[in-house]
Amino acid sequence: MKNLLTASEESKKTSMAKKCHIITFGCQMNEYDSVRMAQLLRHQYLLTSNIEEADLILVNTCSIREKAEHKLYSLLGRLKPLRKNKPHLKIGVTGCVAQQLGGNLFKKAPFVDMVIGPQCIYNIAEVIDSLSEAQGRVVATTLSPNFQIPAAPRAPLPGRSTVRAFVTIMQGCDNFCTYCIVPFVRGREVSRPAQDILKEIDNLVKQGVKDITLLGQNVNSYGKGLMSKTDFPGLLTMIDKNFPDLRLRFTTSHPKDLSDDLISCFSDLKTLCEHLHLPVQAGSDQVLRRMNRKYTVESYMEKVQKLRKSCPEICLTTDIIAGFPGETDQDFQGTMELLRKIRFDQIFAFKYSERPGTAAAGFDDKIPEEKRKERLAQILELQNAIGLEQYKRYENRILECLVESSSNRGLQARTRGNHVVNLTGDDQLIGQVLDIFIEKACHHSLKGRIVN
Ligand code: 5AD
Ligand code: SF4
Repeated sequence: MKNLLTASEESKKTSMAKKCHIITFGCQMNEYDSVRMAQLLRHQYLLTSNIEEADLILVNTCSIREKAEHKLYSLLGRLKPLRKNKPHLKIGVTGCVAQQLGGNLFKKAPFVDMVIGPQCIYNIAEVIDSLSEAQGRVVATTLSPNFQIPAAPRAPLPGRSTVRAFVTIMQGCDNFCTYCIVPFVRGREVSRPAQDILKEIDNLVKQGVKDITLLGQNVNSYGKGLMSKTDFPGLLTMIDKNFPDLRLRFTTSHPKDLSDDLISCFSDLKTLCEHLHLPVQAGSDQVLRRMNRKYTVESYMEKVQKLRKSCPEICLTTDIIAGFPGETDQDFQGTMELLRKIRFDQIFAFKYSERPGTAAAGFDDKIPEEKRKERLAQILELQNAIGLEQYKRYENRILECLVESSSNRGLQARTRGNHVVNLTGDDQLIGQVLDIFIEKACHHSLKGRIVN
């Protein structure tokens, strides 16, 4: 859960203006959507990091796992008293849970004013206006097959960090993995025209952004339905040509659609960082088939080999689901084996979570919760050791790192392979690419010092 921060000095200057506080749950796409909402509301509301002074609170939600939904309800419970003390306060729930529950959300949280799905957030200003006319609550959850992502306003970024940013290039998903709720709440795949994306990147670069992650549920199928016939490798090539000093990344990539052309981009495009998040989900063909993933363990391994041949420095990360319905001990050992063979730098592992309306929710061979937990713990323990060994390969090497931010523990920089590096240095270095000597590998981060 993150709060979108803003320059509080600015809000102090205009203390009479109305203020908005945005809380974001879940993925990077939600972080991007929160930034878009803040930009769209910039004429009516100043962003504030102080929830107490907000006139509008937006909670941007994620429904990928049940836990995220529970967190939403506990947060809403804490917002209720704020509403009592400030009758004009408006509360909106946006994003995937909003889409999933629609007006039913009012039953659990009657003090909420607006429920806005992911395709409707682009009309957030109009929805808020309609609220006063409606003199009641508004539900905006249209999910249209003809939806187009509107061009981003050429507005300043609302956050303080200007070094790193996200740009959505497509949204929605047509894959229907049997565990996943995304196709139901984000709708069908829709790609943005390349020119819109280039303009948005240009706006970000002019504001000092140096590292951009292109976002989409399945970026590899970028371009489907566009007039221009630009595919994903074509888009990456265009961005590389136009912004030669950028660090470029993307997520998420479906293994079944990872083409040879895309693999070649890692060796051919200077801007494309040596990092790929390639969710494998499981190391058993039987489980992958029932997940409707449309690749096998062998074909996944072949793609990894090709990637490592084309770009030996590439860092791989993945997602794993533990305890998918019907997962036998042997299937589970397959996942453990795959982790040992591939040796990811980092993984994001989750217990299987039943989502309403998905095909897997109807499977009758669910794994008991305790077993899911146990398997997840084993996966994490194994990966902890592998991850640390993987990180150790950087010890005593000099890596090119972009200094991104500072905290009371020092500066945080990022390698091209997406590892966080902690170091000491002056805040003035934020935004610079420096040579950093890696002194020590830790779990999930590196420790380094600046090379003179
Ligand atoms: N249960 C557990 N994990 C899930 N994911 C998606 N749906 C579920 C679910 N129902 C995980 C997948 C996906 C990541 C974003 O979330 O691993 O890659
Ligand atoms: Fe969900 Fe599968 Fe689409 Fe990813 S590819 S968003 S896991 S349906």
